[in-house]
Amino acid sequence: MKFFIDTANLEQIKEAQALGVLDGVTTNPSLMAKEGIKGEKNIIQHYVDICNAVTGDVSAEVIATDYEGIIKEGEQLAKLHKQIVVKVPMIKDGIKAIKYFSNKGIKTNCTLVFTAGQALLAAKAGATYVSPFIGRLDDVAYDGVSLIAQIRLIYGNYGYKTQILAASIRHVMHIIQCAEVGADVATCPLSAILGLLKHPLTDSGLAQFLADYKKING
Ligand code: G3P
Repeated sequence: MKFFIDTANLEQIKEAQALGVLDGVTTNPSLMAKEGIKGEKNIIQHYVDICNAVTGDVSAEVIATDYEGIIKEGEQLAKLHKQIVVKVPMIKDGIKAIKYFSNKGIKTNCTLVFTAGQALLAAKAGATYVSPFIGRLDDVAYDGVSLIAQIRLIYGNYGYKTQILAASIRHVMHIIQCAEVGADVATCPLSAILGLLKHPLTDSGLAQFLADYKKING
C-alpha cells in the first residue's frame, strides 16, 4: 500500500519524506487555508515547493466547478510540475473534465467520493485516483472502510486501473483496515503515519534491552 501525507504543511511533508516511506501528497483548499497560503501566486509556489520536497504524486485541487474552468485550471496546474495530479470534485462537469484529462494523459484524483456509484463513474472516466472520504462517512454513522471494500470488489470485477486512495483518514486503525480491504493508497495526517510506530511493549522491551546492556557493560 502507498502512503500519501494529507497536508499542505511543508515541515510535516519533509518529516514524512525523511522517514523514507512516503509515496505522495494530497492537498485541498481547506488544507492550504490552514497553512495560511493566500493568493494565486503563493498557492502556485507552494505546490512547486511541495513537489520539490517529495518524489511522488502531489494532488492539487481545482476551484472551478464548470467544465471549461476545470479544464483551464487543471491544465495550468499540470504544467507546474510533472508530479502534479489534478484533483477534481465528483460533480457532472468534474467527470467530463476527468475524461478530457485522461485522454490528454494528465493524471487526476476524483475527490469528495462517498458512494460506490460515484467511484464507478470516476473509474469509467479514467481517473488515476479515486478518493473516498472514510472519516467523514464514519462521522455520519456510515462505515467508511466498507465503502473501500465495495469499491475494491467493483474495480476488481472489471479490471479498472483507477487507484483507490482512502482519504479523510483519522487514525491508525483506519490505515490498517484500509490495508486489509486492499486500498491502493492511504492519505493520512502525519500523526496517523507516526502512530503506526507505536506499541507499549516495543517501548518497555527496548527499555529492558538497554537496561540489561548497561548492567553488563557499565
Ligand atoms: O484528503 C481529504 C481529506 O483532507 C479530508 O479529510 O479530515 O477533512 O475529513 P477530513
